[in-house]
Amino acid sequence: MKILITYSSVTGNTKKVAKAIAEELKDCDFLDIKDVKNLDYDIIIVGTWIRRTTADPKAMEFIDKIKGKKVAFFFTLGAYPNSEYADRCIKNITELFLKNNNSLLGNFHCHGAVSPSVIERAMKRSQDDPHGSIEKRMERWKHASTHPDENDLSNAKRYFKEIIGR
Ligand SMILES: Cc1cc2nc3c(=O)[nH]c(=O)nc-3n(C[C@H](O)[C@H](O)[C@H](O)COP(=O)(O)O)c2cc1C
Repeated sequence: MKILITYSSVTGNTKKVAKAIAEELKDCDFLDIKDVKNLDYDIIIVGTWIRRTTADPKAMEFIDKIKGKKVAFFFTLGAYPNSEYADRCIKNITELFLKNNNSLLGNFHCHGAVSPSVIERAMKRSQDDPHGSIEKRMERWKHASTHPDENDLSNAKRYFKEIIGR
């Protein structure tokens, strides 16, 4: 069974999770999304970071090319993993895969530290930002800052081992 684990990652969070999954599944191709040359795989696992409740633009473009495959996805996000926001991300990314007749094996996500540049920009926005008060956002960024941690990585490994059956 040929498996591809590929990821889109700007600050390294999603890559970290991807690497852990690749180490666990063994004997699979592990590639940055920009280095994927073909989709000749039995299972394609895609990792993305979240931007505006869905996959980031590079991952979106890549996902759109996958048709009629067995797939799974994972993501890291700045919002709380156990939230209605994260549920919406799952729903939106699921739809991206299903519209091209792929068969979805599962999905996984965890918190990911938010980059200082994003925090800096957000700090400049007003208090009535839709993402909550500045205090609430600072609390969330602080919580995210240590993720993905060892626990996230072991959860990701366990999850993919179970769904891939290796
Ligand atoms: C430009 C930009 C926009 C982002 N927008 C969101 C967002 O809308 N929602 C969210 O939950 N996280 C957002 N984040 C946080 C990232 O999804 C999160 O930090 C993720 O773990 C980054 O993954 P990476 O290290 O693999 O790039 C954003 C990050 C960046 C850089």
